[in-house]
Amino acid sequence: MRIFETQNLSRYFDGVKAVDGVSLSFESERITALIGPNGAGKTTFINLCTGLLKPNSGRIFYNNNDITNLPPHKRVLMGISRTFQISNIFPGLTVSQNIKIPLLSGGKGALDELDRLISMFGFEKKADLLASELSHGDQRLLEIAMSLATKPKILFLDEPTAGINPAEKHKILDVIESLKEDEKLTIVIVEHDMDVVFRIAERIVVMNRGKILADGSPDEIRDDEKVREVYLKGVEI
Ligand SMILES: Nc1ncnc2c1ncn2[C@@H]1O[C@H](COP(=O)(O)OP(=O)(O)O)[C@@H](O)[C@H]1O
Ligand SMILES: [Mg+2]
Repeated sequence: MRIFETQNLSRYFDGVKAVDGVSLSFESERITALIGPNGAGKTTFINLCTGLLKPNSGRIFYNNNDITNLPPHKRVLMGISRTFQISNIFPGLTVSQNIKIPLLSGGKGALDELDRLISMFGFEKKADLLASELSHGDQRLLEIAMSLATKPKILFLDEPTAGINPAEKHKILDVIESLKEDEKLTIVIVEHDMDVVFRIAERIVVMNRGKILADGSPDEIRDDEKVREVYLKGVEI
């Protein structure tokens, strides 16, 4: 089932076509990686999908409802959530307090859900630490936990493993893979590490200069001449 769709979506900044006529749809419970060189428009695309930015033209549909003009908080309530390229946690609050913030809007059952998220992310012994005391990788995990607390159906992850050491990277990947199975989530992940992309993605969409350059299975993308030309040149995959 198609859960999310953009039609001819565009956003310009002072003449720069950051996102230029992008039509993409996402099937439910699939993991799609969105890749492409720096400045390709990946973050802008996520900002449009989640409502942080308004498009200059084009439309966005969620479960066949037109959400193009809805503000971010309304999209969150509908089940559209995200993490940011730069961590967006509250450093002066504890792990547990950070997760409680998005949970409180959920009302009943919030405390059960807090316990569930804390154990799901392995934060049992760290629940009372300040977020600022966590390792970089755990801070990224905390941000994912916070976005899950809003009970999303589709989750956009913007470079969740950027700047993280290999051991912690694997922890994050394990969590992301389990989300698809256990939470029945649709995931769109922006990621530069090709090992990560080819390990977890079922579909890879390649952006370049605001447009979709290629869209296919990992095998199709691996063999795509255009993709090799602009992006994968010299990368062993
Ligand atoms: N708020 C903004 N103001 C002006 N230009 C922007 C803004 N956000 C992004 N851009 C430009 O849009 C293009 C796409 O950026 P971005 O979406 O961040 O790419 P990516 O995430 O793929 O690296 C780049 O040329 C970038 O400089
Ligand atoms: Mg980006």
